[in-house]
Amino acid sequence: MPIDTERLAPDPKGLTRAADLLRAGGLVAFPTETVYGLGAHAGQDRAVARIFEAKGRPRFNPLIVHLAEPDQAREVVEWPDTADLLARAFWPGPLTLVLPLRQAAPISPLVTGGLPTLAVRVPDHPVARALLRDVGGPVAAPSANASGRLSPTRADHVMAGLEGRIEAVLDAGDCPVGLESTIVGLSGAPRLLRPGGLPAERIEEALGARLGTAGAGIDAPGQLNSHYAPRAGLRLNAVARRAGERMLGFGPVGGDLTLSAAGDLVEAAAHLFGYLHDLDAGKDTVIAVAPVPDHGLGRAINDRLIRAAAPRQTPPDD
Ligand code: TXA
Ligand code: MG
Repeated sequence: MPIDTERLAPDPKGLTRAADLLRAGGLVAFPTETVYGLGAHAGQDRAVARIFEAKGRPRFNPLIVHLAEPDQAREVVEWPDTADLLARAFWPGPLTLVLPLRQAAPISPLVTGGLPTLAVRVPDHPVARALLRDVGGPVAAPSANASGRLSPTRADHVMAGLEGRIEAVLDAGDCPVGLESTIVGLSGAPRLLRPGGLPAERIEEALGARLGTAGAGIDAPGQLNSHYAPRAGLRLNAVARRAGERMLGFGPVGGDLTLSAAGDLVEAAAHLFGYLHDLDAGKDTVIAVAPVPDHGLGRAINDRLIRAAAPRQTPPDD
């Protein structure tokens, strides 16, 4: 039976309704500064299981737990000095920390997918934080897209993929960052598990050390190749459009839509998923994508573009 998905305004009434639904085991999509998340109460097994069902996720990949305040992290994970340093520098913000799970943490084992570590973050979005405060406990949330599809940066994207499968979406317009959070593993020496909305260079500056890189696929199991997939094919590093193609421009290489005519990587990140959604006209089209420089947020943008362009034989992930 499809559910009648409510579209809630981000006002006190909508926020109260969203928090009530989450406490009662419902699924509520909510805006963060990065992308929309599909939230469930992290302590409720059934609610967390419904996330995987709603997304059509083939596997129980581990989820990020969202907290209203940095201090709440100590209740669910071990908290070394490096975690404190990074949280002070970047929380609230687009940084997720993976740390050893505390034994007594009130977190459903489905959230970690059985791993001894837990991913936590404090999002920098007033609506997300108001919601998390009202719920009062940790909220598990992957990006609010159906499995294998692009991450949503608008409530309409969430509705297009998940309407009828979730209780509600809190609609607060566009997500300002537009790329998922940067994930850093801190169970050993700090390692970059996923480039994202916070440039890795800024984390390295704060640490005064280089970040290690992820091991072969075990650290962020969600990081399969074909992951952020529009239905259309992608042709990367294109300097001009070919017949029949749609073009996503950057800087001097203009397109049907241009990520940033000024060559600004922050603006480009904010537009990336929305423009790919807009240019995606199905599997018979090709989207040509202009070159994007590979530094700062450009690293995360290129990571997403390479995944979106990868052949689709790998089962879609999250
Ligand atoms: O910006 C974001 O991070 C968004 C918003 C909604 O917060 N969330 C998001 O969640 O992108 P999701 O589920 O689409 O991606 C989470 C990534 C996955 O690649 C997952 O495998 C990884 O985090 N992850 C989660 N827990 C982990 C853990 N304990 N160890 C390693 N990787 C983990
Ligand atoms: Mg995702």
